Amino acid sequence: MPNETIIEAKDVYKIFELGAEKVYALNGVNLEVRNGEFVSIMGPSGSGKTTFLDVLSCMERPTQGEVFIKGRKVSRMTDDELARVRGSTIGFVFQTFNLIPRFNAVENVMLPLWFKRVPVQERRKKAMEALKAVGLGDRLWHKPSQLSGGQRQRVAIARALAVEPEVIVADEPTGNLDSVSGTQILDLIADLHREQGKTILMVTHEKTVGARAEKIVRLMDGKIVGTENGSGGKK
Ligand SMILES: Nc1ncnc2c1ncn2[C@@H]1O[C@H](COP(=O)(O)OP(=O)(O)O)[C@@H](O)[C@H]1O
Ligand SMILES: [Mg+2]
Repeated sequence: MPNETIIEAKDVYKIFELGAEKVYALNGVNLEVRNGEFVSIMGPSGSGKTTFLDVLSCMERPTQGEVFIKGRKVSRMTDDELARVRGSTIGFVFQTFNLIPRFNAVENVMLPLWFKRVPVQERRKKAMEALKAVGLGDRLWHKPSQLSGGQRQRVAIARALAVEPEVIVADEPTGNLDSVSGTQILDLIADLHREQGKTILMVTHEKTVGARAEKIVRLMDGKIVGTENGSGGKK
């Protein structure tokens, strides 16, 4: 349902212990992400952006506080349950693309469908459709090394979309791209939000990138120091 809360963090702490030292990567953060919302998390390096994204996307459990995904308390779920809910709700996009070098584009996109035990014919069909949807219909059989950075990130986005997730989580998706390819990837992400109603959670330290979201959350030393409105996906 549009507007209902899809992910919520309530007074969340993530504390890393390194010997005697404690690092408060998240120091009491609260955030409600609504279905269909485009949120960017911004802040300087080391402010806790990636940790926040990992906790919101249920890759990591908080040290203290609660995360809810689709109304379910993460702390009450087993690792298997959590992996299943995460796998069907969230698609991940990374700064370094994280593609498998010896797999071609179609095979890379098929992979998450294999984990979901989708039959091979349907896997291939869905992967090809997802690649066409991101403008790579003419690069289906290319391996990552035969693609540009922007094209690799498109494959990664197609892979994220293949499982038909409600939420796309992207950590610095334009961080390894030149500005032209970066803008194209950002346009694609904004289209997923506008045209397909996907919820987008994006981490970036670049002002112009973060400004494309509807809501900008500013982090500093593991705390939210401000929330403001962005352009809402428009250029
Ligand atoms: N696994 C870890 N073990 C110890 N400290 C960590 C770990 N992950 C992150 N940190 C620390 O937590 C803080 C926030 O890190 P991170 O979330 O990666 O920040 P950002 O993504 O904003 O650069 C940093 O001080 C970092 O060194
Ligand atoms: Mg980071």
